[in-house]
Amino acid sequence: MARRKIRTFGDPVLREKSKKIENFDEGLSALIKDMADSINSGYQPGVGLAAPQIGISKRAIIINYDDEIKAFINPEIEVLDKSKEADGEGCLSVPGIREEVDRFKKIRLKAKDIKGNNIDMVVEGFLARVFQHEVDHLEGMLFIDRLDKKKKREAITKMHKTS
Ligand code: NI
Repeated sequence: MARRKIRTFGDPVLREKSKKIENFDEGLSALIKDMADSINSGYQPGVGLAAPQIGISKRAIIINYDDEIKAFINPEIEVLDKSKEADGEGCLSVPGIREEVDRFKKIRLKAKDIKGNNIDMVVEGFLARVFQHEVDHLEGMLFIDRLDKKKKREAITKMHKTS
């Protein structure tokens, strides 16, 4: 077990565009295992985690749902319903902050599993939100970047006061 430190706001790795994964090998399995071991080592338990959050700039995310951790490699999102809805969101890399964020309601998620098999699924609501949040991480984007300027500034100030 290798629990890694969760990188937080201000760490430059969170701002990089992550690289596509080409090799579905033992190294990838080890990365996913480290991510699974780390998902609950932030300021609160995580629903999802992206590799950059443990300092690895690669296109891998994990999602914890139905009491199971699933890995999605090189995930890509296709928007199926352009309407958005607002709901509360937080992030292990932005400790203590929870804000309403607009996300697409319905998406198609294409990815590979850790063996390189295709994953192709349609997801809605909360899970669609989680995928959008995690794929943003692979682009170097945090959920607070999606807030208006004033709210973003307030969130950063609050984070610095409490950390
Ligand atoms: Ni996050």
